[in-house]
Amino acid sequence: MEHTFAIIKPDAVAKGHIGAILSLMQKEGFVIKAMCMARLSKHEAEGFYAEHKERGFFGSLVTFMTEGPVVLLALEREDAVAHWRKVMGATNPANADEGTVRKLFAESIERNASHGSDSPASAARELGYFFRSYDLS
Ligand code: RTP
Ligand code: MG
Repeated sequence: MEHTFAIIKPDAVAKGHIGAILSLMQKEGFVIKAMCMARLSKHEAEGFYAEHKERGFFGSLVTFMTEGPVVLLALEREDAVAHWRKVMGATNPANADEGTVRKLFAESIERNASHGSDSPASAARELGYFFRSYDLS
């Protein structure tokens, strides 16, 4: 079994889509291993997205991710990292497949409803970032 890290982003929380997204996760066979709702600080959001700090959209991304509460999730499933990316759909909802989280719920390339780790190494870092001493076994 593999683990991945997901976020239900502030746009989707504000619009009342938490339940629908959790339901989709469970329908897709993910087991929720840890979950919490939190409002990220600027420092937490900057650290989480540090790989993007040189990008033009970084400031706007941090403002968005701190504008309201998010749901942080540790998910377990076979091939969890790749499968959650597939269920989320493309970063830009205009390019996302039908039935994906981003096609159903995203507003724009930035306000795109959810996050998913992009590799097992990222998942390990991100799970540890938000769920201290998370057990990957
Ligand atoms: P994520 O990390 O949130 O799961 O999204 P991703 O891998 O699909 O996309 P990534 O390239 O890692 O970008 C991280 C987040 O930054 C925002 N973004 N805005 N304005 C823009 O051109 C732009 N590009 C990316 C999105 O919120 C994206 O999910
Ligand atoms: Mg990413």
